[in-house]
Amino acid sequence: MKIVCKILLILKCILVVHTHIIGSASSEVIGGRNPKWFPFYSIGRFAQDTCVGTNKLIGTCTLALQCSDIGGTTTGATACSQANTRQASCCIVTKTCGSSADYNNTYFVNSGYPQTFPGGSRCDIRVTRLGSDVCQLRIDFLEFTLAQPTGDGLCSSDYFGVSGGSSPVPRICGENSGQHVYVDFSGDHPITITVATSSSVSFNRRWHFHLQQIGCDSPSKAPSGCLQYWMDKSGYVSSFNYASAASGSTNSIGVQGSRQIASLSYGACVKAAPGTCSITWSRPTGDAFAFTVTGDVGAIDPAILGTAAVQEQMCTTDYVTIPSAQQNGVDALGGDRFCGLGIDDTTSISRPYVIYTKTNANEMTDIGNRGWYLTYTQNMCPV
Ligand SMILES: *[C@@H]1O[C@H](CO)[C@@H](O)[C@H](O)[C@H]1NC(C)=O
Repeated sequence: MKIVCKILLILKCILVVHTHIIGSASSEVIGGRNPKWFPFYSIGRFAQDTCVGTNKLIGTCTLALQCSDIGGTTTGATACSQANTRQASCCIVTKTCGSSADYNNTYFVNSGYPQTFPGGSRCDIRVTRLGSDVCQLRIDFLEFTLAQPTGDGLCSSDYFGVSGGSSPVPRICGENSGQHVYVDFSGDHPITITVATSSSVSFNRRWHFHLQQIGCDSPSKAPSGCLQYWMDKSGYVSSFNYASAASGSTNSIGVQGSRQIASLSYGACVKAAPGTCSITWSRPTGDAFAFTVTGDVGAIDPAILGTAAVQEQMCTTDYVTIPSAQQNGVDALGGDRFCGLGIDDTTSISRPYVIYTKTNANEMTDIGNRGWYLTYTQNMCPV
């Protein structure tokens, strides 16, 4: 007890000296509200100072002792320039199964990470809303490698799922590194993220997710109806589990399976850059499979696979929707739904810029499909 008191006293001295050195401006960062002996209690609040640690991971500036208290590890001497003190360092908080995320910028990994996980359990993390000014949780899949869906597009051995929020998140599986999802908080209810993996499928799983709480007035808050919100002026977006490689499974009628995940219905939105008035979606050159949404890939002449020649617009099973779609300067034939095995460049003026994905529960006739992978560019308003 005596020793503990002594330590506390020393720490208090450090804090006093430190506050004295850095002055009142940055004492908010380290001091925060209600500081007792030392201000553990300010971490996770709005006044926290974020930093970029090694490996580009985002952390919180804390004292080393605070960091270990919240289960983090400190990295990066160059970080925390704002606090600019010798004591503060960049604290990266990483959690695994059965824990809770009580701090902004928590990372959620498989047990044993960075090693792979052989499967065979259900792994949850509970995310606590930091305050009433927080509206959404953004989950970035830095790494997302789970078992592939069946040849029928079902995530039956592994899945990622979310509960407790007020916006729907589909169950997904397979390879989704680089993707992300947004979830709306439902009042103060915690959001639970689940990764379920089956031991009956032998596969090396690995995941590393970044959990960010998005303020209600944050520029990175996704418009309602957007499961994804891409913020670059141009880039690419793909459906979940898209890759140009074929599914390794057959489907329930014994033919080449689909990588496309069944039963999806969601919007992937793009943040409108200032001065732009429309967005154009195009199939990237060099990937013939980049729009293989309905039909039999093997039945199409490879020379026209992916092109406008095999685009379909009477779409009722699996399709993408691009609102008020124009192709070649005129309204797209058949409206705003696109399916088949190819797509022409498609431009839309609707806000938010969005592409919706709809897949039904039956991928049986979608033979050898991958889903879609499109580039987008935003077009300046006419002058
Ligand atoms: C959480 O951290 C991110 C930076 O990664 C920041 O943009 C966001 O505003 C923070 N959220 C809150 C509620 O402070």
